[in-house]
Amino acid sequence: MVIQAVLASFGSLSTTLVGASALPGVSSYVADAGFPTSAFSSYYYSPAQPTQEPQPVIYDPVLNYTFPHNLTDPETIPEENVDDPVLFPPPVANLSASQKRSLVDAVVANVTRIIVETNATESSCARCMNALAAAKPAALYAPELVPETLVSLCKQYALHSNATCEEDFAASTFGAAWTQVLAYADVQGLDGQYMCWSISKSFCAEPTTQPLDTTKLFPKPKPANATVPPPSGKRVKVLHMSDLHLDARYAVGAEANCSSGLCCRTNNFNRASPGEPLLPANAYGGFQCDTPYDLGLAALQAVGPLTGTGKGDDEESLAWTVYTGDLVSHDPQSELSQAYTMYAETSVYGMFKHFLTGPVFAALGNHDTSPENLDSPHNMPGPLGQQQSWNYDHVAGLWLHEGWISPDAARQARTHYGGYSVKTHYGLRIIAFNTDLWYKGNIFNFINSTDADNSGVFSWMISELQSAEDAGERVWIIGHVLSGWDGTNPLPNPTNLFYQIVARYAPHVIANILWGHTHEDHILLYYSHNGTVRDDAHALATAWIGPSVTPLTNLNSGFRLYEVDTGDFQIYNAYTFFSNVSEYDDHVFLPNATASTGPTFQIEYSTRDTYGHAASWSHADPLNATFWHRVTEAMERDANLVSLQNTLQGKRSVLSPNCTDSFCQEAKICYMRSGSVALGSQCRQGYGSVQSAFKP
Ligand SMILES: *[C@@H]1O[C@H](CO)[C@@H](O)[C@H](O)[C@H]1NC(C)=O
Ligand SMILES: *[C@@H]1O[C@H](CO)[C@@H](O)[C@H](O)[C@H]1NC(C)=O
Ligand SMILES: *[C@@H]1O[C@H](CO)[C@@H](O)[C@H](O)[C@H]1NC(C)=O
Ligand SMILES: *[C@@H]1O[C@H](CO)[C@@H](O)[C@H](O)[C@H]1NC(C)=O
Ligand SMILES: *[C@@H]1O[C@H](CO)[C@@H](O)[C@H](O)[C@H]1NC(C)=O
Ligand SMILES: *[C@@H]1O[C@H](CO)[C@@H](O)[C@H](O)[C@H]1NC(C)=O
Ligand SMILES: *[C@@H]1O[C@H](CO)[C@@H](O)[C@H](O)[C@H]1NC(C)=O
Ligand SMILES: *[C@@H]1O[C@H](CO)[C@@H](O)[C@H](O)[C@H]1NC(C)=O
Ligand SMILES: *[C@@H]1O[C@H](CO)[C@@H](O)[C@H](O)[C@H]1NC(C)=O
Ligand SMILES: *[C@@H]1O[C@H](CO)[C@@H](O)[C@H](O)[C@H]1NC(C)=O
Ligand SMILES: *[C@@H]1O[C@H](CO)[C@@H](O)[C@H](O)[C@H]1NC(C)=O
Ligand SMILES: *[C@@H]1O[C@H](CO)[C@@H](O)[C@H](O)[C@H]1NC(C)=O
Repeated sequence: MVIQAVLASFGSLSTTLVGASALPGVSSYVADAGFPTSAFSSYYYSPAQPTQEPQPVIYDPVLNYTFPHNLTDPETIPEENVDDPVLFPPPVANLSASQKRSLVDAVVANVTRIIVETNATESSCARCMNALAAAKPAALYAPELVPETLVSLCKQYALHSNATCEEDFAASTFGAAWTQVLAYADVQGLDGQYMCWSISKSFCAEPTTQPLDTTKLFPKPKPANATVPPPSGKRVKVLHMSDLHLDARYAVGAEANCSSGLCCRTNNFNRASPGEPLLPANAYGGFQCDTPYDLGLAALQAVGPLTGTGKGDDEESLAWTVYTGDLVSHDPQSELSQAYTMYAETSVYGMFKHFLTGPVFAALGNHDTSPENLDSPHNMPGPLGQQQSWNYDHVAGLWLHEGWISPDAARQARTHYGGYSVKTHYGLRIIAFNTDLWYKGNIFNFINSTDADNSGVFSWMISELQSAEDAGERVWIIGHVLSGWDGTNPLPNPTNLFYQIVARYAPHVIANILWGHTHEDHILLYYSHNGTVRDDAHALATAWIGPSVTPLTNLNSGFRLYEVDTGDFQIYNAYTFFSNVSEYDDHVFLPNATASTGPTFQIEYSTRDTYGHAASWSHADPLNATFWHRVTEAMERDANLVSLQNTLQGKRSVLSPNCTDSFCQEAKICYMRSGSVALGSQCRQGYGSVQSAFKP
């Protein structure tokens, strides 16, 4: 019944769909056409109509610095980052310039011999690892010569396109980090396999999960009497926002249908029509573009009316907001910098402070650092273990400045990779951690890869969870890169460890887990007994993946509200809101038009109304892991329910292909039951995103 109603009501869903649960606020919100100029105190450029992206003057209270206009001006996008420090491992001996040059020449000769030698008895993986071993002396004795050498070898042997070779290995992008990894990794062990797999999937297969000794993992065994506390009956409203990816360099009128890279930029074109944009970017966003100010602010303005919260005396406030990471746009690394990252951090958190009620608890995403994806473990030698402290200091300072976390929590964030553990004033503990420490794109994770907790993040998390258990607290864990689903984003060993942590502390301590990163709307489940029996009796915890504000790639824009009980901190309902990006180009938003309204944000669906009936779920019970497991069982019985999930996963984007064949349907159900790489990689691959070739 419900399913048919939802699918049938695709056009006018807000009225048909939400018959059962009362909406938390209005069913749809139309932003004003004009940019809310009160959002910022001054502007480099402030258009009267949405005909160009505004350029607010962003003052950074932590740095005591005003970002210059040229950092975000769409006309002055840099081609190379010349401002930031480039850190090499300290050389193990002091050689003269000419000694270094001849050493590197000899290394190149050795590597070349290994590459060109055909030895049928050796796999390409072993040869790649031998080549890394032959290259290692260069990283140890002449580190600053390594990036240019890697770029030239990459081009010579056509590992990637010439542009990608520069993007991957130039000193100012990832080359200096690769040099550190080459210097310190065990290149002929597991580390080397990861490095070779990362350089080319044709060199090494992805390593699988290694055995984990769990005997001394936890300070205490799981209490036999562990139970979830009862609900208090008092419900509060919690916002989940994710992946805003502010594009302060968005250019109205630029190509929104570009051939490669980030569209709606002055420097990206469609090859078929380089002179004239095929699809001129409107002011509010496009399917291949990140979030312009006009869209981000429309979303933030919509939060109050749609969720029934606001700053007025008689209005309910949001209890808190969870932001699961990624503030910065998807530029190539050559266009990024520490300053550009810090600009997005300051601007977006400032907008949250302006428009949202209640505190915001944010986790760092892989785009919230520079070079993107990189966060080095603290046990790297000397200053290399602190090379992203500029960022942890910055975000900790901003969160403190906005009044969201205490000075103690800010101190913790500075020394824990931007992670912290705080108790909200409702009594819930929130543990935020930096998931770059398991993200595959963070090449520093290839060092000491046999240690599932090389960064120390998980021993810290265990000690926080043990204190919470001892104190009878409930916990939400928040982060960016999800631990499981199809298993394509994190490294296997740390997610295997995390899975054991969840099993130890859920459901009596860990009430919910929130991730972002995929830009899509879905959940994944954790079970007891290491997931060997995945049924409703073994389901322990749910991870909710928050839909992105950015429409990239081919998605609508969205966010979610949870109704949370203040006794058990479980979710009793979830309302997901979206804005239909395919409407933007149709009418008022063309660059030359005078817009009459801004975009519409509206209710997309209520989770309980959508799935409650199919899961035979009592209206009084929380939307916990047992509920979600029953939803997956209902999906096994009714393929329409998988199609519905797929539609919602893409936020009803007109560009989402349907999931109608049995391979896709089985894969989706399998992903929902996979909380780790080990489990996700057992599912049929290729259906993780509603989009085919999507790289968040
Ligand atoms: C901030 O910087 C200005 C100069 O740009 C300086 O005059 C002022 O003293 C600084 N404030 C603080 C608190 O450091
Ligand atoms: C950007 O503007 C600032 C301040 O006006 C200036 O110091 C800097 O050199 C400019 N950068 C570039 C790349 O033009
Ligand atoms: C290289 O020289 C510098 C400066 O003289 C010195 O500080 C450093 O210890 C030397 N390194 C080695 C490995 O000898
Ligand atoms: C090159 O390989 C040879 C043979 O394995 C080795 O003796 C030599 O030290 C290598 N050269 C460098 C610079 O690593
Ligand atoms: C080919 O590889 C095998 C296995 O690693 C090794 O024993 C042999 O020496 C190699 N042959 C050459 C010519 O390098
Ligand atoms: C890539 O770079 C190499 C070395 O600089 C050059 O020989 C080659 O022609 C370039 N390839 C393309 C497609 O530009
Ligand atoms: C569980 O047992 C421990 C140890 O006997 C006790 O301290 C604790 O209060 C009990 N917890 C509950 C919820 O009954
Ligand atoms: C690898 O791990 C060991 C043990 O924790 C640590 O001492 C070492 O510094 C780590 N190496 C690097 C390069 O991070
Ligand atoms: C979920 O809630 C139901 C109903 O209250 C309960 O029976 C079940 O044990 C809960 N599941 C978990 C994992 O807490
Ligand atoms: C507005 O611009 C679009 C595309 O750039 C063009 O097709 C249309 O004719 C223009 N309309 C007016 C009224 O100039
Ligand atoms: C997907 O299925 C829905 C409902 O059956 C339908 O309305 C929609 O057009 C389909 N979309 C695509 C891309 O085939
Ligand atoms: C849990 O199961 C996975 C397979 O799904 C396995 O790779 C892993 O080693 C197991 N972990 C533990 C701690 O037993």
